[in-house]
Amino acid sequence: MSRYILEVENICKSVGVGEQQIKILKHINFFAREGEYVAIMGPSGSGKSTLLGILSCIDKQTSGNVRIDGVNIGQLNKNELTVFRNEKIGIVFQSFNLIPVLNAEENIEIPLFFSKKPIDAASKVDELINLVGLSHKRKSLPKQLSGGEQQRIAIARALAGEPIILFADEPTGALDSQNSEVVLGIFDEFRKKYNMTIIVITHDIKVANRADRIVYIEDGELYERNSAK
Ligand SMILES: Nc1ncnc2c1ncn2[C@@H]1O[C@H](COP(=O)(O)OP(=O)(O)OP(=O)(O)O)[C@@H](O)[C@H]1O
Ligand SMILES: [Mg+2]
Repeated sequence: MSRYILEVENICKSVGVGEQQIKILKHINFFAREGEYVAIMGPSGSGKSTLLGILSCIDKQTSGNVRIDGVNIGQLNKNELTVFRNEKIGIVFQSFNLIPVLNAEENIEIPLFFSKKPIDAASKVDELINLVGLSHKRKSLPKQLSGGEQQRIAIARALAGEPIILFADEPTGALDSQNSEVVLGIFDEFRKKYNMTIIVITHDIKVANRADRIVYIEDGELYERNSAK
């Protein structure tokens, strides 16, 4: 069996709302191996995006540990975390978060400005923009792109730095079935090519069934059930 890339131990997340503490995540334990593809499902408001924010080092847990590629990310200082994230992690957000003043190809190139990996930026941008089927829109600004097109550029950006793990929050939520298929095909291809671990949040059972397994979050608790496979 391959090694664990993601180890999540006893994660809790509480936030203060007025006088009250709300427990958003309750003792989450979750592991994913190198090259594994896991889907996270669950009702709206159950804590999926909150969990993904913590796993992708954007948000901090109240307690518990997250290790990615053997590194306890809670023990990294701010600079180390920035370098680590850029090197190891690709993220596709529920809202696309493209930089509005940069065009499509410049957005894709962002992770490569800081990367120490020997990746040729021009050929990587070409590869990805072709893969997502938007080479004719490479000079367009995000506001000149449809929601689905922005999402495809965001996915290309997440993959540019050849991350070892990709986190995606509803990556096909804004796409029609044809473009969803394109995106899922890209995930499959990158997983094969780079043995990338993929963690996808989705409401779409068709997307979830492409994964090796499905975990469920309900009311801040994580359950694992046997998937359809
Ligand atoms: N900073 C915050 N302060 C207060 N409540 C929060 C905060 N962040 C998230 N929540 C609450 O935590 C719960 C989980 O939110 P989260 O965004 O993780 O849900 P989700 O499972 O991703 O839902 P969806 O499927 O709609 O995207 C929600 O009830 C939300 O209102
Ligand atoms: Mg969400």
